[in-house]
Amino acid sequence: MKSAILHLFYKFKLLLLFTSCLIVVAWVTSSYLVGTVQEMPKAKSLVENFRAATMLLKGNQKKTTTSTVEVPTVKSTMNHCPAVSPYLQGPAQLKFKAFLTLEEVQKENPQVAKGRHHPAECSALQRVAILIPHRNREKHLLYLLEHLHPFLQRQQLDYGIYVIHQACSTKFNRAKLLNVGYLEALKEENWDCFIFHDVDLIPENDFNIYMCDKQPKHLVVGRNNTGYRLRYKGYFGGVTALTRDQFSMVNGFSNSYWGWGAEDDDLRIRVEMQKMQVMRPPPDVAKYTMIFHTRDRGNEENGERMKLLRQVSRTWKTDGLNSCSYKLLSVEHKPLYTNITVDFSMPPNIS
Ligand SMILES: *[C@@H]1O[C@H](CO)[C@@H](O)[C@H](O)[C@H]1NC(C)=O
Repeated sequence: MKSAILHLFYKFKLLLLFTSCLIVVAWVTSSYLVGTVQEMPKAKSLVENFRAATMLLKGNQKKTTTSTVEVPTVKSTMNHCPAVSPYLQGPAQLKFKAFLTLEEVQKENPQVAKGRHHPAECSALQRVAILIPHRNREKHLLYLLEHLHPFLQRQQLDYGIYVIHQACSTKFNRAKLLNVGYLEALKEENWDCFIFHDVDLIPENDFNIYMCDKQPKHLVVGRNNTGYRLRYKGYFGGVTALTRDQFSMVNGFSNSYWGWGAEDDDLRIRVEMQKMQVMRPPPDVAKYTMIFHTRDRGNEENGERMKLLRQVSRTWKTDGLNSCSYKLLSVEHKPLYTNITVDFSMPPNIS
C-alpha cells in the first residue's frame, strides 16, 4: 500500500518535471519567435531596398528598346529626396529687374559652381541637364538663370545648366544645338534626364517638376503671350523633358532645320513613331512667362519646314544624333552655367 502511494508520488514528480521542461522550452522558443518577428520588418525592408537598388541599376544599364522606360534614379548611400520637395512654393508672380547683371545673379547663387548644384540633405531622384540653345540673347539668358537656379534647387534636383551657343553667321539651328548639348553634356556626367529649354521662357510654378517621366514630357501648356493656352494640338516646343534613353531612341533632333520653326514638331513625330506618348502637367502648373522679343536676325522662318516634316519617317534614322557633326570651339565652365560654343557649316543648298 505504502509502496503504491510512493510509486504514484514518483509518477507525479516525473510529470511535474516534464511539464516544467515543456514550459521552459515553450518560453524559450516563443521569446525567440517574438524576437524574429520584430526583426522581420527590418530584414524585409533591407531585402526590398536591395531589390529596388538592383532593379534601378538594371534599368539604368539596359539600353531600352521598348517604349516604356525605367525612370532612372541616382544611387547613393544617402536617403533619397522625397517624391515631393518640401521647398516648393507654387505659383509665383515673376519680376524682371530692368537692370540686372551676371555678377548680381552670381552673388545670389554662391552655392552654384560650374552651373551645377545638388541637394546636401538627400540624394536627388534624377541627375538633370538643362540645355539652352542661345545666340545674342544675353538679357534673356540672365533672367532665365536668375529664376532657374533657385527654382531647380527648390525641386531638390542634382542639375547642371548648359548653354549651347551658335557662333558665326549661319542660320540659327536650335535642334542641332540641342543635339550638341546632349552629346557634350554626356561627356561630363551620366545625366539621367535632359530638359530642352528655350531661353525666353521662364517657369512660373515650381510644381512644374524638371524631371523626366516614363514618357517624354512637354512642360509648356500655357504662356502669358498666348493667354496660357496650348499653342496648337500636338505642340511640343519651348520646354521638353526626355530621358537619356528616350532621346537616343528617337535619334535626337533632326539637324536639318535652319531658321525658325517645326523642329519641335519633327521631334514629336519621332517620339510618336517610337510608340511613346507626350505627357503634360496640368495647365495651372505648366505656365510660363515669355520675355518679349522680336524675331532675331539669322532666325527667319524656315521655308523648307513643311517639306522636311513630311519626310521624318524616312529620314529620322540617318538624320539626328548619329549624324550631328560640328566644330567645337570652346567649353567654358562659368559659375552659373557651362558655355559650349560651336560652329556649324550649313549645307550648300540652304540660303
Ligand atoms: C508676358 O510677360 C512678360 C514679362 O512680364 C512681358 O514682357 C510680356 O509683355 C507679357 N506678354 C503679354 C502678351 O502679356
